[in-house]
Amino acid sequence: MTDRPSEQDEEQHVHIVGPRELPLVALRETVIFPEMIVPLQVGRDKSVAALNAAVATNGPIALVTQRQAEQEEIGDPSELYTVGTLARIAQVVQLQDGTVRAIVQGQGRLRVLSFVSTDPYITVIAEELPNVTPDSIEVQALMRTVQAQIEQYVANGAPVPPEAAVAARNITEPGLLADMVAYSPDLSTEQRMELLQTTDVLERLRIVSTFLSRQIEILELKGKIQSEVKSEMDKTQREYILREQLKAIQRELGEEDPQQAEINELREKVEAAGMPEEVKTRALKEVDRMSRIPSASPEVGVIRTYVDWLVALPWDTATTDNLDIKSAAKILDEDHYGLEKIKERILEYLAVRTLADTLRSPILAFVGPPGVGKTSLGKSIARAMGRKFVRMSLGGIHDEAEIRGHRRTYIGALPGRIIQNIKTGGSNNPVFMLDEVDKIGMDFRGDPSSALLEVLDPEQNNTFQDNYLEVPFDLTRVLFITTANLLDPIPAPLRDRMEVVQLPGYTEQEKIEIGKRFLIPKQMKNHGLTEKHIAITDEAMVELVRSYTHEAGVRNLEREIANVMRKVARSVAEGRKRKTFVDVKKLNLFLGPQRFEYGELEAEDQTGAATGLVVTEVGGDVIAIEVTLMEGKEDFILTGQLGEVMRESARAGLSWIRAHAASLGIKREVFERNTLHIHVPAGGIPKDGPSAGITMATAMVSAFTGIPVNKDVAMTGEITLRGRVLPIGGLKSKILAAHLSGAKIVILPRKNEKDLRDIPDEIRKQIKLILVDTMDQVLEAVLRRRPTPLIAGPAKTAEGGTEAEAGKQPDPEGRVRRSFPPPVDQPPAMA
Ligand SMILES: Nc1ncnc2c1ncn2[C@@H]1O[C@H](COP(=O)(O)OP(=O)(O)OP(=O)(O)O)[C@@H](O)[C@H]1O
Ligand SMILES: [Mg+2]
Repeated sequence: MTDRPSEQDEEQHVHIVGPRELPLVALRETVIFPEMIVPLQVGRDKSVAALNAAVATNGPIALVTQRQAEQEEIGDPSELYTVGTLARIAQVVQLQDGTVRAIVQGQGRLRVLSFVSTDPYITVIAEELPNVTPDSIEVQALMRTVQAQIEQYVANGAPVPPEAAVAARNITEPGLLADMVAYSPDLSTEQRMELLQTTDVLERLRIVSTFLSRQIEILELKGKIQSEVKSEMDKTQREYILREQLKAIQRELGEEDPQQAEINELREKVEAAGMPEEVKTRALKEVDRMSRIPSASPEVGVIRTYVDWLVALPWDTATTDNLDIKSAAKILDEDHYGLEKIKERILEYLAVRTLADTLRSPILAFVGPPGVGKTSLGKSIARAMGRKFVRMSLGGIHDEAEIRGHRRTYIGALPGRIIQNIKTGGSNNPVFMLDEVDKIGMDFRGDPSSALLEVLDPEQNNTFQDNYLEVPFDLTRVLFITTANLLDPIPAPLRDRMEVVQLPGYTEQEKIEIGKRFLIPKQMKNHGLTEKHIAITDEAMVELVRSYTHEAGVRNLEREIANVMRKVARSVAEGRKRKTFVDVKKLNLFLGPQRFEYGELEAEDQTGAATGLVVTEVGGDVIAIEVTLMEGKEDFILTGQLGEVMRESARAGLSWIRAHAASLGIKREVFERNTLHIHVPAGGIPKDGPSAGITMATAMVSAFTGIPVNKDVAMTGEITLRGRVLPIGGLKSKILAAHLSGAKIVILPRKNEKDLRDIPDEIRKQIKLILVDTMDQVLEAVLRRRPTPLIAGPAKTAEGGTEAEAGKQPDPEGRVRRSFPPPVDQPPAMA
């Protein structure tokens, strides 16, 4: 389309050619476009007059928007936009109030050139503006874009009639299409004016397109926001309804407690805990009880803790046993040197388990001095079997409740340590080590050993009752291992249920091996050292064991090795590059003066003294039992904090001596005039009861008769009134101690012969073992000469000799350090 050449070339359209004088109506906030037919409310006098003038001439009129909508009187062209609309007046209605309603029809764009007059109405000179429409593809393309945009605009809810989209499709004239968009109420007056002023149709389409795309975006966003708001509202609504329904259901089920969520959760946990039916019923009952009491009640917390405990226990969680004997054996060997019998016992147990899964676990008791590997053996068993390991010390437990827990009626009550450890272990078949069963106490708070009995007794422990739990827990799959330093203090009912495994201690050679193979590598690693840094010579190892430790086990040995490592580690840290060879000299330098001396045997034969072998808490030991005769009326006094069993043992020995006084060459009056003082050094207090019997008796005979005792002999054995020698315990420990102290002969009960299998060959080669049945045989072996029996009348020599010899007390300082091992000048054992 191009400009329009004549006034009437199109039906209904008025066009003007060239500048022409026209009446003008100023518009407020309205822009009228060509092709628009709009009603126009005209109120201002000048506007009414202009309209009337146009109507009078049936001519066109100029409709131009004023820049300031609120301005009443227009006096100057600058107060109007320069571009306006040429319009035809289709209809005029004069209203009562003097205003006029006209229907005007846009005809084209015009530009105001100048004002002719402003009174009685505005008359201007204006010229029509032609549309400039380049006939290019670009215009066509843009037209289509705009048409599509209009459709989208309408579809997204534009505030225009829906037919607008169809109308837009049918428009073929690009300028008209652009002008049509001006119908949208989304356009501001300024935007409309911009459109009106743009005669370049391409440009006008661009403006419209930009406007539309922005408008579409706004509408889409608006739509999105609206739908989000809507869906949010839907969701809330839905939840609300569901919640109401839930409440109704819960009301039906009688579960109205506000803590419902927690209670439901607890209930789920109970269901999932794998509890036996009985326990589950109990737990659910507690949960129900919780839901019925007010949430503020402290009882809620108590019940929650209780149910949490029930839930946390490994009711049906168990580890799978490694039943591969070979790999188990390998693990045991990896962790411990020697201990062959014990390892074998463990492997036997495993082997039987491969055949019968239902086998009751035995209760092993490892008995032996400190540091012999009881605890670490337990750990190793757990590792070999692939089980968890838990450990609890019974030392100093007086209160039954520590084992079995407090009733829930106590404030802050908890389960006992058995259940606590089971929970920590996390499986119902751990290796459970009960340390120090021999140290378990007993007082007014109950008897912990009876509680322990329930734990260990296979007849009862499938329903072990913890006071707190109130429901039984099955302990049958637990492998219990107890440890003790001594067997005797363990309450008999407990002891009866255990399979005792003795770990009597190590020989010097074994200690050296353990040191070399286990302790040195372990401590090297602990101290960040390697073979590049340190080597300990064999001689130094011997010295370490002999002069710096005095123990049955290897704990101090390990500590001293750590000591050496620390010294070396320090020198390495300080820059030492060369390897340190720790020989005896360096060892003495590192560890200071030697601490222990072996050779507690007398340096010379003594009268009224004998060397006994005992087992104490720290292993086997030698003790010198001394006897002197004093004036007095009593039979004897015993010093050295000895127990009742020792006292009775001394009395039995004395009675035997009195009964055989004649054959021993002791006169009656000696007993009547003298009191025997028997002293056992306190440091070596034997804890194993009667085994010092023959030693005390020997010392007494020596004191009465004045016959010296062979200094190289150590002995152990219980004595009866009739002079029979009974077997004793802890033989291996005792012989190890005798060996270390340099004894050459050991006297022991024949009944202990079977135990000699445990004695290492290297020791049997160095010590002569004499097995005896009677006290006579003991005296035969130990006294330097035979007593002269009394034939008749007083035997002056015997009595005089006794008193003279008895005064000669052993010199406590007279002991000398014995070289080790002692020279072998005896044939091997006679046993
Ligand atoms: N036969 C052995 N082979 C290797 N290391 C051993 C051996 N015996 C003991 N040990 C080591 O000695 C140290 C002490 O052992 P453990 O703690 O097991 O002693 P214990 O018998 O339990 O002593 P306590 O009675 O004082 O509890 C541990 O480091 C252990 O590994
Ligand atoms: Mg231990």
